[in-house]
Amino acid sequence: MNSQEIMQLALDMVGFDGIPADSAIQVPGKDMKRVLFGIDIGVPELLLAKELKVDGVIAHHPIGLNISPIYDKHIDQMASFGIPREVGEKAVAPIKEGTNLSFLSGNFDHVVSVARVLGLPLMNIHNPLDEVGRRVMDEAIKARRQAVEGTGAGEGAGQGRTFTVGDVVDALQGIPEFSRVPTRPQIMVGKAENPAGKVAVAHAAGTNGRYAVANAYYEHGVSTVVYIHVDAPGLAKLRAENKGNLVVAGHIVADAVGINPFIDLLREKGMEVITISGCGL
Ligand SMILES: [Fe+2]
Ligand SMILES: [Fe+2]
Repeated sequence: MNSQEIMQLALDMVGFDGIPADSAIQVPGKDMKRVLFGIDIGVPELLLAKELKVDGVIAHHPIGLNISPIYDKHIDQMASFGIPREVGEKAVAPIKEGTNLSFLSGNFDHVVSVARVLGLPLMNIHNPLDEVGRRVMDEAIKARRQAVEGTGAGEGAGQGRTFTVGDVVDALQGIPEFSRVPTRPQIMVGKAENPAGKVAVAHAAGTNGRYAVANAYYEHGVSTVVYIHVDAPGLAKLRAENKGNLVVAGHIVADAVGINPFIDLLREKGMEVITISGCGL
């Protein structure tokens, strides 16, 4: 497969029309039969790839890109819960600016230049695979809600009790990858016995929405936010205000949940995939 075909396979999994801002083919390759795939790829991993004599390297996390436009996905996700777009825009503006500044100050060429010199095809696929993971987690939570709240017979059968924050954690923990890693989903704000209410899985939008995105959800009828990770200052503020529940799923396991189905697809196509750095967990 060539780089474009690999990228298209990922885009097709989630029905995306084009390559999002946080994904790219940095060094194109063709006729790739054996690849190294890791969540984080830097210069040491490229040297490993050379040692392993693979045909190309696939990373999950962005390499040398200005990913600030991808944060707009938070605005779209918030809008799906009825949050006005201008509220979403205000919440993500500081995150976008910070990312833009990091891009301006960072060395976008460092890792890419090494791949070029080594003659190693390199690409990174971020948002499409995070979107796969977001859907898996969201569906697991919805299925668990049905099993807990359902009062009907047959398909609607359930325990007929209130769906709680603890049930959200149990739903995530029921996804196979979660039982294979040392991290556990944690309730960072709120208590296990709290009613979960409306639950937003705020993932697949660049990175976590810090204080502002979670706060906007709480102020617009969402009682429980699921992030895959959160910054310490943002968490401190969310705890101090205690407006809603926050479940942190765990970064690498949540990434793996989105990446593993894609690795399965590549292998179905006959590709040999060597996994490192959180891929294949
Ligand atoms: Fe990710
Ligand atoms: Fe990640």
